Amino acid sequence: MAPAPTTITDAEQNAQETAKAAARPTSILHRTPWRPPVATSAEGMYIYLEDGRKVLDAVGGAAVACIGNGHPEVKKALKEQVDKVSYVYNMQLSNEPAEELADFLVKTGNGAFELCGFVSGGSEAMEGVIKLARQYFYETKQPQRTNFIARQLSFHGNTLSTLSLACHPGRRVPYEAVLNRENFHHVSPAYAKRFQKPDETEEQYVERLRQELEDKFLELGPDTVIGFVAETVVGATTGVVSAPKGYFKAMKSVCDKYGALFILDEVMSGMGRMGTLHAWESFGDGVAPDIQAVAKGLGGGYASIGAVLMSKKVAEGIRGTGGIWKHGHTYQAHPLSCAAALAVQKVIISESLLENVRVQGPYLESLLRERLQSPNAPAAPFVFDVRGGGAWWGIEFDFTSPEAARVDFRGQAFAMLVQARCLEKNLIVMGMTGGSNLEGTVGDHLMLSPAYNVTKEQVEQIVDIFVESIEEILKEYAA
Ligand SMILES: Cc1ncc(COP(=O)(O)O)c(C=O)c1O
Repeated sequence: MAPAPTTITDAEQNAQETAKAAARPTSILHRTPWRPPVATSAEGMYIYLEDGRKVLDAVGGAAVACIGNGHPEVKKALKEQVDKVSYVYNMQLSNEPAEELADFLVKTGNGAFELCGFVSGGSEAMEGVIKLARQYFYETKQPQRTNFIARQLSFHGNTLSTLSLACHPGRRVPYEAVLNRENFHHVSPAYAKRFQKPDETEEQYVERLRQELEDKFLELGPDTVIGFVAETVVGATTGVVSAPKGYFKAMKSVCDKYGALFILDEVMSGMGRMGTLHAWESFGDGVAPDIQAVAKGLGGGYASIGAVLMSKKVAEGIRGTGGIWKHGHTYQAHPLSCAAALAVQKVIISESLLENVRVQGPYLESLLRERLQSPNAPAAPFVFDVRGGGAWWGIEFDFTSPEAARVDFRGQAFAMLVQARCLEKNLIVMGMTGGSNLEGTVGDHLMLSPAYNVTKEQVEQIVDIFVESIEEILKEYAA
């Protein structure tokens, strides 16, 4: 007798297709142990894959695609620009979209910024920040300032100096031996949920962190410090962690006291992600930095672009002597990148997308809390935190409590299992591990960062698939 036909779910079918795609040969040295599925077209938040599937991108790639794919205004701007000027080198010629975009960015600071320089992405922006800050003290005749202070559990990019500047244990591993320990130093993260002591108030925690920074200045020699560097909201390490109230004000006060620069990395958190154009406006005590990096949401993925914004003080220090940015790359201020970024920023304004972020963000939060943290939610015993703001939310799981004996992931990271299951169900989310302790060895976080034009229905769809995936994994791996 023929065996009874087995029914196969869509997710299982998708898993089989993904496995087939992953096994196909590739000449790319990929960043994943498998060949990722190939995207063939995209529209808005939906991406079509080579196997015909349509997936919903709930994380904008890596918090990049802030208005989704294929926006007609950006396509039009790019086409017009390619017809006008596709490339000029910025040591010979400037170009219209670069001038207009710089003007736009400087004005967004309401007086916080005076000048801006362009680069091709986040790591380049942070490299540019490091060099600009050093150049500032070189030009202002304080050459003894050679030290940067950043934070543990941070990420500022994947080049050697940005890896040295930040402290992301996992990403440093193969490069430890060639990282710079002489000029880059670290203080504690501002991560209250993990590191605020039980008997400490928020003010006391902030004061402890302020004192630690001041002690580090004193240890290094206060007049040797170039600046303190922090992500306004920490992204790819701890998973959407904002600082306690008053933290940035306190850290800036130490920088001001010793004449060092206060530097913010808003590569991920900036350009609207938190519901304000600059994250420091809503999540940084309103304290404007001396230098700031932006990238991802600037070009929204339509082109590779980042920018370094600087205050009047820094601009004047540079202008006083050299007057030029002693830092360059061939594709700085690329006309197509600038035209794309300018069009993206105009769309954000004309379609009132920050207003949408401020509506859909809290809705996403409320659904996540209800479905993951309410007393009868199956995942609740393992959810350590739901946090974030605007269109950027992190969900941290904890498997160290006695409840954890109920599950056994057999050596696999829960966050990555959920990420894979979501993809099988046609949803892209981002899983991260290692953000819960200073050694980078513990932690399961998932990140959602949909486009700013996400709809209410899409928010509901994201949460449905996300929670379903979490619950399935918890059930399948029950001990
Ligand atoms: C805060 C922060 N800085 C810098 C970077 C590096 O940006 P990129 O990947 O564009 O080089 C990232 C990337 O995730 C980031 O989150």
